[in-house]
Amino acid sequence: MFITFEGPEGSGKTSQIPPLVDFLRAQGVDLFPTREPGGTPISDQVRSILMNMDNQAMHPRTEILLFCASRAQIVEQVIRPKLAHGCTVLCDRYADSTLAYQGYGHGLDKVFLRELLEFTTGGLWPDCTILLDIDVQQGLQRKQQCRGEWNRLDAYELAFHERVRQGYLEMAHQQPERWQIVDASQSQEAVQQTLRSILLNRLASRAR
Ligand code: TYD
Repeated sequence: MFITFEGPEGSGKTSQIPPLVDFLRAQGVDLFPTREPGGTPISDQVRSILMNMDNQAMHPRTEILLFCASRAQIVEQVIRPKLAHGCTVLCDRYADSTLAYQGYGHGLDKVFLRELLEFTTGGLWPDCTILLDIDVQQGLQRKQQCRGEWNRLDAYELAFHERVRQGYLEMAHQQPERWQIVDASQSQEAVQQTLRSILLNRLASRAR
């Protein structure tokens, strides 16, 4: 099973995923966690170009192609082989991030982006996508306060992040069988409990 996590900035993916992985492994799930952009040595090098605050001149088209380059590599080198071995792969961000950030956020052609993503992934889409949804201002504040890490994409204006959030919600409503929306403004414990029960249910129904 291929599971992805999506959400706007500060939605809490980074703090929720490690305890979730520990929990699912303790339940006997053969789980491989990874993240995008990154996850292979080549993809990590592309990530550092994308996140570098010095690269303010980067054009949205350049940005898309770099995200896709990083993704093509992790799909072939890591995700497909792990799935072929029967592992459950859990990826922090995937192709839906490109639709949300570059499609809805930058307003680039989503029909074309979907075709590009088909090419990039060889048609590999997740079985289940969790959307950690949070108010944009709350998320950005959280991110600044908790981690003190601020990358080139965080620095886009508020309206950009609002379009990203609305884009995610639209995609989730268009494909309710794949997406699950979780209210990430709840306490960390409440969000963790919700995630555990959603994924246990999904894994159990898949095994039946
Ligand atoms: P990261 O530090 O991994 O942030 P987060 O914890 O929010 O996942 O940075 C990834 C950034 O890249 C984030 O701002 C979302 C953005 N992004 C895109 O714009 N398009 C993409 O296709 C992907 C994978 C990420």
